[in-house]
Amino acid sequence: MLITLSVLLIISVFVLFWQASLLMATISGSPIVYASPKAIRDCLKLTGLSPGQTVIDLGCGNARSLVLATKEFRAKGVGVDRSYYGYWRSIINVWLGGHAKDITIVRGDFRQIERQLTTADVVYLYLLNETLAQIESWLFRHIGKKTTIVSLAFSFPNHQPMETCETTNLGKKTTIRLYRLKP
Ligand SMILES: C[S@@+](CC[C@H](N)C(=O)[O-])C[C@H]1O[C@@H](n2cnc3c(N)ncnc32)[C@H](O)[C@@H]1O
Repeated sequence: MLITLSVLLIISVFVLFWQASLLMATISGSPIVYASPKAIRDCLKLTGLSPGQTVIDLGCGNARSLVLATKEFRAKGVGVDRSYYGYWRSIINVWLGGHAKDITIVRGDFRQIERQLTTADVVYLYLLNETLAQIESWLFRHIGKKTTIVSLAFSFPNHQPMETCETTNLGKKTTIRLYRLKP
């Protein structure tokens, strides 16, 4: 009886924590929606990502982009997410995929990994237009000269993409945009 009650309590706390995390993310304007593997793959292909290079996912969600980058492109990954749910889901996915030595997951705001931006080869983004507008000047100030930013579906208000292509994400046609600093 006591064991059953304890198990039920643990499950309830987990469900409560999970729902609260999703609610917080939705209220704060960054709903947790995960991109389709095909869309992520097309984004990374467009950047020309090669083995040994580093991808940063700002708002990594479930770390699917990083696991895919490691598995299919033999790249290394760094992900950051402020949601506890996203953070733990990423940690679990990275461990289950056996990529713990190639992928680092950080819990917190994007700015937690500011210093890594300058050496990143690729910054992958699947964030709403409002969020891109908020981080645009900060992000372009901190990336390196050779960093490529790839944004799935959404765009920065003040920078023009240097290349675009079409993909399918969550069953809908959408655009991928590539950005780099002007030489
Ligand atoms: C649309 S999801 C994208 C998930 C994943 N990158 C993908 O492509 O499937 C956006 C994620 O960004 C996270 N996020 C939004 N604003 C953030 C911030 N300021 N700092 C850290 N994470 C943030 C949210 O918690 C959410 O998990």
